[in-house]
Amino acid sequence: MILYLFVAVGLLWFVLFRLRRQRLYELANQAPRPEGELPLIGLAHHFLGDTEGIMKSLQQLSYASIKSGGIIRGWLGHILYFLVVDPVDLEMVLKTCMEKDDLHRFIRHVIGNGGIFAPVSIWRRRRKILLPAFSPKIVETFVEVFSEQSEKMAKKLNVAADSGQFSLWPFLSSYTLDSVCETAMGVKMGAQENSDLPFLTRMNTLLNVVCERIFKLWLQPEWAFRVFPQYSVQKHCIDVLHGFTDDVIKRKRTELKNEKQCQPEADKNFDLENYRRKSFLDLLISFSGGERGYTDVELREEVLTLTVAGTDTSAVAIGNTLKLLAKYPKFQERLFAEIQEVFGDSDRPLVKEDLNNLKFLDRVVKETLRLFPPVPFVIRKVLTDTKLPSGYILPAGSGVVVSIWGVHRDPKYWGPDAENFDPDRFLPERYNIANSCSFMPFSNGPRNCLGYQYALMSIKTAVTGVVRNYRVIGEEEKTPTPHMRVKLDIMMKAVDGYQVALEKRKNLVQ
Ligand code: HEM
Repeated sequence: MILYLFVAVGLLWFVLFRLRRQRLYELANQAPRPEGELPLIGLAHHFLGDTEGIMKSLQQLSYASIKSGGIIRGWLGHILYFLVVDPVDLEMVLKTCMEKDDLHRFIRHVIGNGGIFAPVSIWRRRRKILLPAFSPKIVETFVEVFSEQSEKMAKKLNVAADSGQFSLWPFLSSYTLDSVCETAMGVKMGAQENSDLPFLTRMNTLLNVVCERIFKLWLQPEWAFRVFPQYSVQKHCIDVLHGFTDDVIKRKRTELKNEKQCQPEADKNFDLENYRRKSFLDLLISFSGGERGYTDVELREEVLTLTVAGTDTSAVAIGNTLKLLAKYPKFQERLFAEIQEVFGDSDRPLVKEDLNNLKFLDRVVKETLRLFPPVPFVIRKVLTDTKLPSGYILPAGSGVVVSIWGVHRDPKYWGPDAENFDPDRFLPERYNIANSCSFMPFSNGPRNCLGYQYALMSIKTAVTGVVRNYRVIGEEEKTPTPHMRVKLDIMMKAVDGYQVALEKRKNLVQ
Protein backbone atom coordinates (compact mmCIF):
# COMPACT_ATOMS: atom_id res chain seq x y z
CA MET A 1 0.00 0.00 0.00
CA ILE A 2 2.76 2.42 1.02
CA LEU A 3 4.64 1.48 -2.13
CA TYR A 4 1.61 2.34 -4.32
CA LEU A 5 1.27 5.66 -2.55
CA PHE A 6 4.94 6.34 -3.11
CA VAL A 7 4.66 5.56 -6.84
CA ALA A 8 1.49 7.66 -7.18
CA VAL A 9 3.10 10.69 -5.49
CA GLY A 10 6.19 10.23 -7.66
CA LEU A 11 4.11 10.10 -10.84
CA LEU A 12 2.09 13.15 -9.84
CA TRP A 13 5.28 15.07 -9.10
CA PHE A 14 6.71 14.04 -12.50
CA VAL A 15 3.57 15.11 -14.38
CA LEU A 16 3.49 18.48 -12.60
CA PHE A 17 7.21 18.93 -13.20
CA ARG A 18 6.74 18.30 -16.95
CA LEU A 19 3.67 20.54 -17.13
CA ARG A 20 5.48 23.45 -15.46
CA ARG A 21 8.29 23.10 -17.97
CA GLN A 22 6.06 22.72 -21.01
CA ARG A 23 7.37 25.87 -22.68
CA LEU A 24 10.98 24.81 -22.08
CA TYR A 25 10.34 21.55 -23.93
CA GLU A 26 8.48 23.29 -26.77
CA LEU A 27 11.24 25.79 -27.36
CA ALA A 28 13.93 23.12 -26.97
CA ASN A 29 12.33 21.14 -29.78
CA GLN A 30 12.65 24.08 -32.20
CA ALA A 31 16.43 23.92 -32.21
CA PRO A 32 18.49 21.22 -33.96
CA ARG A 33 19.77 18.50 -31.66
CA PRO A 34 22.99 16.52 -31.87
CA GLU A 35 23.13 12.78 -32.40
CA GLY A 36 23.56 10.43 -29.46
CA GLU A 37 21.12 11.92 -26.94
CA LEU A 38 19.85 9.30 -24.48
CA PRO A 39 16.51 9.28 -22.63
CA LEU A 40 16.61 10.94 -19.19
CA ILE A 41 20.36 11.70 -19.14
CA GLY A 42 20.53 13.46 -22.52
CA LEU A 43 24.19 14.12 -23.36
CA ALA A 44 25.53 13.55 -19.83
CA HIS A 45 27.35 10.36 -20.88
CA HIS A 46 29.63 12.51 -23.09
CA PHE A 47 31.05 14.16 -19.98
CA LEU A 48 31.94 11.14 -17.87
CA GLY A 49 35.46 10.64 -19.20
CA ASP A 50 38.69 12.46 -18.43
CA THR A 51 39.25 16.15 -19.18
CA GLU A 52 40.65 15.34 -22.64
CA GLY A 53 37.53 13.33 -23.47
CA ILE A 54 35.31 16.14 -22.20
CA MET A 55 37.13 18.65 -24.41
CA LYS A 56 36.73 16.33 -27.41
CA SER A 57 32.99 16.05 -26.76
CA LEU A 58 32.61 19.81 -26.59
CA GLN A 59 34.64 20.24 -29.79
CA GLN A 60 32.40 17.71 -31.57
CA LEU A 61 29.28 19.50 -30.31
CA SER A 62 30.73 22.78 -31.58
CA TYR A 63 31.27 21.28 -35.05
CA ALA A 64 27.71 19.89 -34.92
CA SER A 65 26.50 23.40 -34.13
CA ILE A 66 28.45 24.84 -37.10
CA LYS A 67 26.88 22.17 -39.34
CA SER A 68 23.39 22.96 -38.04
CA GLY A 69 23.71 26.64 -38.91
CA GLY A 70 25.03 28.02 -35.62
CA ILE A 71 22.99 26.49 -32.79
CA ILE A 72 22.20 23.12 -31.25
CA ARG A 73 20.55 22.15 -28.04
CA GLY A 74 21.18 19.29 -25.63
CA TRP A 75 20.01 18.04 -22.25
CA LEU A 76 22.27 17.31 -19.31
CA GLY A 77 19.78 15.37 -17.23
CA HIS A 78 16.92 17.82 -16.67
CA ILE A 79 18.99 20.90 -17.57
CA LEU A 80 18.67 22.31 -21.06
CA TYR A 81 21.68 23.90 -22.75
CA PHE A 82 22.07 25.60 -26.11
CA LEU A 83 25.50 25.59 -27.73
CA VAL A 84 25.83 28.61 -30.00
CA VAL A 85 28.55 29.42 -32.53
CA ASP A 86 26.81 32.00 -34.70
CA PRO A 87 28.50 35.38 -34.02
CA VAL A 88 25.35 37.42 -34.71
CA ASP A 89 23.34 35.37 -32.21
CA LEU A 90 26.25 35.47 -29.77
CA GLU A 91 26.38 39.24 -29.82
CA MET A 92 22.81 39.21 -28.53
CA VAL A 93 23.52 36.45 -25.98
CA LEU A 94 26.53 38.24 -24.51
CA LYS A 95 24.61 41.52 -24.29
CA THR A 96 21.48 40.15 -22.69
CA CYS A 97 22.35 36.99 -20.72
CA MET A 98 24.72 38.46 -18.16
CA GLU A 99 24.25 35.99 -15.31
CA LYS A 100 26.85 33.23 -15.04
CA ASP A 101 25.72 29.62 -15.10
CA ASP A 102 25.17 27.83 -11.78
CA LEU A 103 28.32 25.75 -12.37
CA HIS A 104 30.30 28.86 -11.35
CA ARG A 105 29.14 28.34 -7.76
CA PHE A 106 32.01 25.89 -7.18
CA ILE A 107 34.65 28.50 -7.88
CA ARG A 108 32.60 31.12 -6.02
CA HIS A 109 32.95 28.93 -2.90
CA VAL A 110 36.70 29.27 -3.25
CA ILE A 111 37.23 32.84 -4.37
CA GLY A 112 34.00 34.59 -3.46
CA ASN A 113 32.20 37.24 -5.46
CA GLY A 114 35.10 38.68 -7.43
CA GLY A 115 34.28 40.17 -10.87
CA ILE A 116 34.21 37.11 -13.13
CA PHE A 117 32.11 34.81 -10.99
CA ALA A 118 29.82 37.25 -9.16
CA PRO A 119 26.04 37.35 -9.61
CA VAL A 120 24.99 40.36 -11.72
CA SER A 121 23.67 42.29 -8.69
CA ILE A 122 27.17 42.34 -7.16
CA TRP A 123 29.15 42.33 -10.41
CA ARG A 124 27.84 45.70 -11.71
CA ARG A 125 29.38 47.78 -8.92
CA ARG A 126 32.55 45.70 -8.89
CA ARG A 127 33.08 46.12 -12.65
CA LYS A 128 32.57 49.89 -12.37
CA ILE A 129 35.29 50.09 -9.75
CA LEU A 130 37.68 47.75 -11.59
CA LEU A 131 37.28 49.34 -15.02
CA PRO A 132 39.54 52.41 -14.57
CA ALA A 133 42.27 50.20 -13.08
CA PHE A 134 42.55 48.51 -16.49
CA SER A 135 42.88 51.74 -18.48
CA PRO A 136 45.70 51.45 -21.05
CA LYS A 137 47.68 54.24 -19.32
CA ILE A 138 47.91 52.15 -16.16
CA VAL A 139 48.28 48.74 -17.78
CA GLU A 140 51.16 49.77 -20.02
CA THR A 141 53.23 50.68 -16.97
CA PHE A 142 53.17 46.95 -16.09
CA VAL A 143 55.31 46.10 -19.13
CA GLU A 144 58.31 46.87 -16.93
CA VAL A 145 57.24 44.02 -14.62
CA PHE A 146 56.57 41.62 -17.54
CA SER A 147 59.94 42.50 -19.03
CA GLU A 148 61.83 41.88 -15.78
CA GLN A 149 59.97 38.62 -15.10
CA SER A 150 60.35 37.33 -18.66
CA GLU A 151 64.11 37.95 -18.53
CA LYS A 152 64.15 35.90 -15.35
CA MET A 153 62.22 33.13 -17.14
CA ALA A 154 64.62 33.17 -20.10
CA LYS A 155 67.53 32.73 -17.69
CA LYS A 156 65.80 29.91 -15.82
CA LEU A 157 65.18 28.13 -19.13
CA ASN A 158 68.92 28.11 -19.77
CA VAL A 159 69.24 25.13 -17.43
CA ALA A 160 66.79 23.08 -19.48
CA ALA A 161 68.08 24.18 -22.89
CA ASP A 162 70.18 21.93 -25.14
CA SER A 163 69.15 18.84 -23.16
CA GLY A 164 66.12 17.38 -24.93
CA GLN A 165 62.40 17.67 -24.36
CA PHE A 166 60.93 19.07 -21.16
CA SER A 167 57.66 20.58 -19.96
CA LEU A 168 57.46 24.37 -20.27
CA TRP A 169 54.43 24.56 -17.97
CA PRO A 170 56.18 25.14 -14.59
CA PHE A 171 58.25 27.95 -16.16
CA LEU A 172 55.22 29.59 -17.75
CA SER A 173 52.88 29.40 -14.78
CA SER A 174 55.50 30.76 -12.37
CA TYR A 175 56.27 33.62 -14.82
CA THR A 176 52.59 34.59 -15.00
CA LEU A 177 52.03 34.13 -11.25
CA ASP A 178 55.00 36.37 -10.42
CA SER A 179 53.80 39.00 -12.89
CA VAL A 180 50.20 38.89 -11.70
CA CYS A 181 51.09 38.98 -8.00
CA GLU A 182 53.40 41.94 -8.46
CA THR A 183 50.84 43.90 -10.47
CA ALA A 184 47.75 42.79 -8.51
CA MET A 185 49.09 42.87 -4.96
CA GLY A 186 52.42 44.66 -5.24
CA VAL A 187 54.13 41.51 -3.92
CA LYS A 188 57.26 39.95 -5.36
CA MET A 189 56.14 36.33 -5.04
CA GLY A 190 59.33 34.62 -6.23
CA ALA A 191 57.55 31.61 -7.78
CA GLN A 192 60.23 31.47 -10.48
CA GLU A 193 62.84 30.92 -7.78
CA ASN A 194 60.72 28.42 -5.88
CA SER A 195 58.35 26.25 -7.88
CA ASP A 196 57.03 24.59 -4.68
CA LEU A 197 55.64 27.88 -3.45
CA PRO A 198 52.55 27.05 -1.34
CA PHE A 199 50.45 29.79 -2.99
CA LEU A 200 51.10 28.38 -6.48
CA THR A 201 50.72 24.69 -5.60
CA ARG A 202 47.56 25.28 -3.53
CA MET A 203 46.02 27.45 -6.26
CA ASN A 204 46.60 24.67 -8.80
CA THR A 205 45.14 22.05 -6.46
CA LEU A 206 42.08 24.22 -5.81
CA LEU A 207 41.40 24.71 -9.50
CA ASN A 208 41.68 20.94 -10.02
CA VAL A 209 39.12 20.30 -7.27
CA VAL A 210 36.76 22.89 -8.77
CA CYS A 211 37.13 21.25 -12.18
CA GLU A 212 36.39 17.82 -10.70
CA ARG A 213 33.23 19.15 -9.07
CA ILE A 214 31.98 20.58 -12.34
CA PHE A 215 32.23 17.26 -14.18
CA LYS A 216 31.68 14.69 -11.40
CA LEU A 217 28.02 14.95 -10.53
CA TRP A 218 28.42 13.06 -7.21
CA LEU A 219 30.75 15.82 -5.94
CA GLN A 220 28.22 18.56 -6.65
CA PRO A 221 25.78 18.54 -3.69
CA GLU A 222 27.40 20.27 -0.72
CA TRP A 223 26.44 17.47 1.72
CA ALA A 224 27.95 14.79 -0.54
CA PHE A 225 31.13 16.77 -1.23
CA ARG A 226 31.86 16.91 2.51
CA VAL A 227 32.18 13.13 2.60
CA PHE A 228 34.97 13.04 0.01
CA PRO A 229 38.67 13.75 0.71
CA GLN A 230 38.59 16.62 -1.81
CA TYR A 231 36.60 18.61 0.74
CA SER A 232 39.41 18.79 3.29
CA VAL A 233 41.98 19.35 0.53
CA GLN A 234 39.90 22.31 -0.69
CA LYS A 235 39.54 23.68 2.83
CA HIS A 236 43.27 23.54 3.48
CA CYS A 237 44.07 25.24 0.13
CA ILE A 238 41.50 27.97 0.74
CA ASP A 239 43.08 28.65 4.15
CA VAL A 240 46.50 29.07 2.53
CA LEU A 241 45.29 31.38 -0.25
CA HIS A 242 43.05 33.47 1.99
CA GLY A 243 45.67 33.66 4.73
CA PHE A 244 48.31 34.96 2.33
CA THR A 245 46.03 37.51 0.66
CA ASP A 246 44.58 38.75 3.94
CA ASP A 247 48.09 39.31 5.20
CA VAL A 248 49.03 41.35 2.12
CA ILE A 249 45.87 43.45 2.48
CA LYS A 250 46.53 44.08 6.18
CA ARG A 251 50.09 45.19 5.42
CA LYS A 252 48.89 47.43 2.59
CA ARG A 253 46.31 49.12 4.84
CA THR A 254 48.98 49.79 7.48
CA GLU A 255 51.41 51.05 4.85
CA LEU A 256 48.81 53.44 3.45
CA LYS A 257 47.94 54.70 6.91
CA ASN A 258 51.60 55.27 7.75
CA GLU A 259 52.17 57.11 4.54
CA LYS A 260 49.03 59.12 5.30
CA GLN A 261 47.86 58.36 1.79
CA CYS A 262 44.68 56.72 2.93
CA GLN A 263 41.84 58.74 1.47
CA PRO A 264 38.75 59.07 3.66
CA GLU A 265 36.47 59.57 0.64
CA ALA A 266 36.25 58.00 -2.78
CA ASP A 267 38.60 59.61 -5.28
CA LYS A 268 35.88 60.60 -7.74
CA ASN A 269 37.94 62.88 -9.96
CA PHE A 270 40.99 60.72 -9.99
CA ASP A 271 43.78 61.67 -12.32
CA LEU A 272 45.25 58.50 -13.79
CA GLU A 273 48.72 60.07 -13.76
CA ASN A 274 48.70 59.71 -9.94
CA TYR A 275 48.13 55.98 -10.17
CA ARG A 276 50.84 54.94 -12.58
CA ARG A 277 52.76 51.82 -11.52
CA LYS A 278 50.55 51.13 -8.50
CA SER A 279 49.24 47.64 -7.85
CA PHE A 280 45.59 46.78 -8.50
CA LEU A 281 45.20 46.49 -4.73
CA ASP A 282 46.22 50.14 -4.26
CA LEU A 283 43.89 51.16 -7.06
CA LEU A 284 40.94 49.17 -5.72
CA ILE A 285 41.31 50.62 -2.23
CA SER A 286 41.37 54.08 -3.69
CA PHE A 287 38.71 53.74 -6.41
CA SER A 288 36.25 51.98 -4.08
CA GLY A 289 36.32 54.85 -1.59
CA GLY A 290 39.44 54.57 0.56
CA GLU A 291 38.71 53.64 4.15
CA ARG A 292 34.98 53.63 3.48
CA GLY A 293 35.31 51.58 0.32
CA TYR A 294 35.82 47.86 -0.09
CA THR A 295 36.01 45.75 3.05
CA ASP A 296 39.00 43.45 3.49
CA VAL A 297 36.88 40.49 2.32
CA GLU A 298 35.80 42.33 -0.84
CA LEU A 299 39.41 43.27 -1.52
CA ARG A 300 40.51 39.68 -1.05
CA GLU A 301 37.81 38.47 -3.46
CA GLU A 302 38.84 40.95 -6.13
CA VAL A 303 42.58 40.39 -5.81
CA LEU A 304 42.23 36.60 -5.79
CA THR A 305 39.94 36.75 -8.81
CA LEU A 306 42.52 38.76 -10.73
CA THR A 307 45.21 36.28 -9.73
CA VAL A 308 43.17 33.29 -10.88
CA ALA A 309 41.94 35.09 -14.02
CA GLY A 310 45.38 36.21 -15.04
CA THR A 311 47.74 33.34 -14.20
CA ASP A 312 46.80 30.16 -16.08
CA THR A 313 45.03 31.95 -18.96
CA SER A 314 48.14 33.86 -20.01
CA ALA A 315 50.47 30.90 -19.30
CA VAL A 316 48.35 28.71 -21.59
CA ALA A 317 48.42 31.36 -24.32
CA ILE A 318 52.23 31.64 -24.12
CA GLY A 319 52.57 27.84 -24.16
CA ASN A 320 50.26 27.48 -27.17
CA THR A 321 52.14 30.19 -29.08
CA LEU A 322 55.52 28.58 -28.44
CA LYS A 323 54.16 25.14 -29.34
CA LEU A 324 52.82 26.43 -32.66
CA LEU A 325 56.10 28.22 -33.40
CA ALA A 326 57.87 24.89 -32.83
CA LYS A 327 55.45 23.21 -35.24
CA TYR A 328 56.08 25.84 -37.91
CA PRO A 329 59.81 26.80 -37.90
CA LYS A 330 59.31 29.11 -40.93
CA PHE A 331 57.03 31.34 -38.81
CA GLN A 332 59.43 31.14 -35.88
CA GLU A 333 62.36 32.30 -38.02
CA ARG A 334 60.23 35.15 -39.40
CA LEU A 335 59.43 36.20 -35.87
CA PHE A 336 63.08 35.93 -34.82
CA ALA A 337 64.06 38.15 -37.78
CA GLU A 338 61.50 40.74 -36.63
CA ILE A 339 62.84 40.58 -33.07
CA GLN A 340 66.40 41.03 -34.41
CA GLU A 341 65.24 44.07 -36.34
CA VAL A 342 63.86 45.64 -33.16
CA PHE A 343 66.64 44.67 -30.73
CA GLY A 344 69.65 43.94 -32.96
CA ASP A 345 72.29 42.14 -30.91
CA SER A 346 71.62 44.28 -27.85
CA ASP A 347 70.63 42.69 -24.54
CA ARG A 348 68.52 45.66 -23.51
CA PRO A 349 65.24 44.91 -21.76
CA LEU A 350 62.02 45.07 -23.74
CA VAL A 351 60.05 48.31 -23.29
CA LYS A 352 56.42 49.01 -24.13
CA GLU A 353 57.29 50.83 -27.40
CA ASP A 354 58.91 47.61 -28.69
CA LEU A 355 55.57 45.84 -28.55
CA ASN A 356 54.15 48.33 -31.07
CA ASN A 357 56.95 47.46 -33.49
CA LEU A 358 56.54 43.70 -33.24
CA LYS A 359 53.73 43.46 -35.78
CA PHE A 360 54.25 39.86 -36.86
CA LEU A 361 54.32 38.83 -33.20
CA ASP A 362 50.91 40.45 -32.80
CA ARG A 363 49.54 38.36 -35.67
CA VAL A 364 51.13 35.14 -34.38
CA VAL A 365 49.58 35.64 -30.92
CA LYS A 366 46.15 36.49 -32.35
CA GLU A 367 46.18 33.45 -34.66
CA THR A 368 47.17 31.26 -31.71
CA LEU A 369 44.32 32.69 -29.62
CA ARG A 370 41.95 32.00 -32.52
CA LEU A 371 42.84 28.34 -32.96
CA PHE A 372 43.55 27.58 -29.30
CA PRO A 373 41.58 30.00 -27.13
CA PRO A 374 42.59 29.44 -23.46
CA VAL A 375 38.94 29.89 -22.43
CA PRO A 376 37.13 27.95 -25.17
CA PHE A 377 33.65 28.14 -23.63
CA VAL A 378 31.72 30.70 -21.59
CA ILE A 379 28.46 29.57 -19.99
CA ARG A 380 25.65 31.97 -19.19
CA LYS A 381 22.23 31.52 -17.64
CA VAL A 382 19.04 32.53 -19.48
CA LEU A 383 16.76 34.34 -17.01
CA THR A 384 14.04 35.47 -19.43
CA ASP A 385 13.02 34.17 -22.86
CA THR A 386 15.54 35.61 -25.31
CA LYS A 387 14.81 35.83 -29.03
CA LEU A 388 17.95 35.55 -31.13
CA PRO A 389 18.44 37.26 -34.52
CA SER A 390 18.34 33.77 -36.11
CA GLY A 391 14.76 33.42 -34.84
CA TYR A 392 15.41 30.79 -32.17
CA ILE A 393 14.16 31.56 -28.67
CA LEU A 394 16.30 30.64 -25.66
CA PRO A 395 13.77 29.82 -22.95
CA ALA A 396 14.08 31.13 -19.39
CA GLY A 397 15.68 28.48 -17.20
CA SER A 398 18.04 27.15 -19.87
CA GLY A 399 21.79 27.67 -20.12
CA VAL A 400 23.77 28.89 -23.09
CA VAL A 401 27.26 27.72 -23.98
CA VAL A 402 29.16 30.35 -25.96
CA SER A 403 31.55 28.22 -28.00
CA ILE A 404 34.54 30.46 -28.64
CA TRP A 405 36.23 27.34 -30.02
CA GLY A 406 33.45 26.91 -32.59
CA VAL A 407 33.13 30.58 -33.59
CA HIS A 408 36.87 30.70 -34.29
CA ARG A 409 36.76 27.69 -36.61
CA ASP A 410 33.58 28.36 -38.57
CA PRO A 411 34.45 28.27 -42.30
CA LYS A 412 31.44 30.49 -43.00
CA TYR A 413 33.38 33.40 -41.46
CA TRP A 414 37.02 32.27 -41.60
CA GLY A 415 37.00 30.60 -45.02
CA PRO A 416 37.68 27.02 -46.10
CA ASP A 417 41.14 27.17 -44.48
CA ALA A 418 39.67 28.04 -41.07
CA GLU A 419 41.60 25.16 -39.41
CA ASN A 420 44.98 26.32 -40.76
CA PHE A 421 47.58 28.25 -38.78
CA ASP A 422 48.10 31.37 -40.86
CA PRO A 423 49.13 34.45 -38.83
CA ASP A 424 48.89 36.65 -41.92
CA ARG A 425 45.12 36.29 -41.98
CA PHE A 426 45.32 39.11 -39.38
CA LEU A 427 47.09 41.46 -41.84
CA PRO A 428 44.91 44.59 -42.02
CA GLU A 429 44.38 44.11 -45.78
CA ARG A 430 43.18 40.52 -45.27
CA TYR A 431 41.28 40.80 -42.00
CA ASN A 432 37.69 41.57 -42.95
CA ILE A 433 35.68 39.94 -40.21
CA ALA A 434 32.53 42.03 -39.95
CA ASN A 435 31.18 40.92 -36.57
CA SER A 436 33.29 41.53 -33.46
CA CYS A 437 32.05 38.20 -32.03
CA SER A 438 33.77 36.24 -34.82
CA PHE A 439 37.08 36.73 -33.03
CA MET A 440 36.65 36.87 -29.28
CA PRO A 441 39.29 35.03 -27.26
CA PHE A 442 38.50 37.49 -24.47
CA SER A 443 34.71 37.17 -24.94
CA ASN A 444 32.59 40.17 -25.88
CA GLY A 445 29.92 42.52 -24.56
CA PRO A 446 29.57 44.22 -21.17
CA ARG A 447 31.08 41.25 -19.29
CA ASN A 448 34.09 40.72 -21.51
CA CYS A 449 37.59 40.21 -20.16
CA LEU A 450 38.88 43.35 -18.50
CA GLY A 451 42.46 42.12 -18.63
CA TYR A 452 42.80 41.65 -22.41
CA GLN A 453 45.31 44.42 -23.00
CA TYR A 454 47.25 43.38 -19.92
CA ALA A 455 47.22 39.75 -21.13
CA LEU A 456 48.36 40.60 -24.66
CA MET A 457 51.28 42.63 -23.32
CA SER A 458 52.31 39.90 -20.89
CA ILE A 459 52.04 37.14 -23.54
CA LYS A 460 53.98 39.08 -26.17
CA THR A 461 56.72 40.06 -23.73
CA ALA A 462 57.20 36.45 -22.62
CA VAL A 463 57.19 35.01 -26.17
CA THR A 464 59.74 37.63 -27.24
CA GLY A 465 61.90 36.75 -24.23
CA VAL A 466 61.97 33.07 -25.23
CA VAL A 467 62.35 33.42 -29.03
CA ARG A 468 65.02 36.11 -28.66
CA ASN A 469 67.23 33.63 -26.79
CA TYR A 470 66.20 30.16 -27.95
CA ARG A 471 65.07 28.20 -30.96
CA VAL A 472 61.95 26.32 -29.85
CA ILE A 473 61.89 22.79 -31.20
CA GLY A 474 58.99 20.35 -31.29
CA GLU A 475 57.22 18.00 -33.60
CA GLU A 476 56.99 19.83 -36.94
CA GLU A 477 53.60 19.79 -38.69
CA LYS A 478 53.57 18.51 -42.25
CA THR A 479 50.32 20.31 -43.07
CA PRO A 480 49.06 23.85 -42.36
CA THR A 481 46.52 22.42 -39.88
CA PRO A 482 48.12 22.14 -36.45
CA HIS A 483 47.22 19.26 -34.13
CA MET A 484 47.52 19.52 -30.38
CA ARG A 485 46.01 17.21 -27.79
CA VAL A 486 44.10 19.45 -25.40
CA LYS A 487 42.10 18.97 -22.22
CA LEU A 488 39.57 21.14 -20.41
CA ASP A 489 41.09 21.92 -17.02
CA ILE A 490 38.91 25.02 -16.51
CA MET A 491 41.26 26.45 -19.15
CA MET A 492 42.02 24.52 -22.34
CA LYS A 493 45.56 23.22 -21.83
CA ALA A 494 47.92 21.02 -23.85
CA VAL A 495 47.79 17.45 -22.53
CA ASP A 496 51.59 17.12 -22.63
CA GLY A 497 52.29 20.12 -20.36
CA TYR A 498 53.89 21.98 -23.29
CA GLN A 499 56.75 19.61 -24.08
CA VAL A 500 59.41 21.25 -26.26
CA ALA A 501 63.17 21.32 -26.59
CA LEU A 502 65.16 24.55 -26.63
CA GLU A 503 68.33 25.31 -28.55
CA LYS A 504 70.32 28.30 -27.30
CA ARG A 505 70.67 31.13 -29.77
CA LYS A 506 73.22 32.77 -27.46
CA ASN A 507 74.64 32.29 -23.98
CA LEU A 508 72.69 34.03 -21.26
CA VAL A 509 74.52 35.39 -18.21
CA GLN A 510 72.91 33.85 -15.11
C1 HEM B 1 45.02 35.00 -22.52
C2 HEM B 1 44.59 35.46 -21.36
C3 HEM B 1 43.14 35.66 -21.00
C4 HEM B 1 42.03 35.17 -21.59
C5 HEM B 1 41.92 34.25 -22.81
C6 HEM B 1 40.89 35.67 -20.84
C7 HEM B 1 39.58 35.39 -21.14
C8 HEM B 1 38.50 35.80 -20.38
C9 HEM B 1 37.15 35.39 -20.61
C10 HEM B 1 36.68 34.47 -21.75
C11 HEM B 1 36.39 35.99 -19.67
C12 HEM B 1 34.90 35.75 -19.43
C13 HEM B 1 34.04 36.74 -20.09
C14 HEM B 1 32.59 36.33 -20.15
O1 HEM B 1 32.00 35.75 -19.24
O2 HEM B 1 32.01 36.65 -21.15
C15 HEM B 1 37.26 36.80 -18.84
C16 HEM B 1 36.84 37.59 -17.79
C17 HEM B 1 37.69 38.36 -17.05
N1 HEM B 1 39.06 38.44 -17.15
FE1 HEM B 1 40.19 37.53 -18.54
N2 HEM B 1 41.35 36.46 -19.82
C18 HEM B 1 42.72 36.49 -19.88
C19 HEM B 1 43.57 37.16 -19.05
C20 HEM B 1 43.18 38.00 -18.04
C21 HEM B 1 44.06 38.75 -17.20
C22 HEM B 1 45.59 38.75 -17.33
C23 HEM B 1 43.30 39.43 -16.31
C24 HEM B 1 43.71 40.35 -15.20
C25 HEM B 1 44.89 40.55 -14.73
C26 HEM B 1 41.91 39.12 -16.60
C27 HEM B 1 40.83 39.63 -15.93
C28 HEM B 1 39.52 39.30 -16.19
C29 HEM B 1 38.41 39.84 -15.43
C30 HEM B 1 38.47 40.82 -14.28
C31 HEM B 1 37.25 39.26 -15.98
C32 HEM B 1 35.82 39.47 -15.51
C33 HEM B 1 35.10 40.50 -16.30
C34 HEM B 1 33.69 40.70 -15.81
O3 HEM B 1 32.98 39.73 -15.53
O4 HEM B 1 33.31 41.87 -15.72
N3 HEM B 1 41.88 38.25 -17.66
N4 HEM B 1 38.55 36.65 -19.30
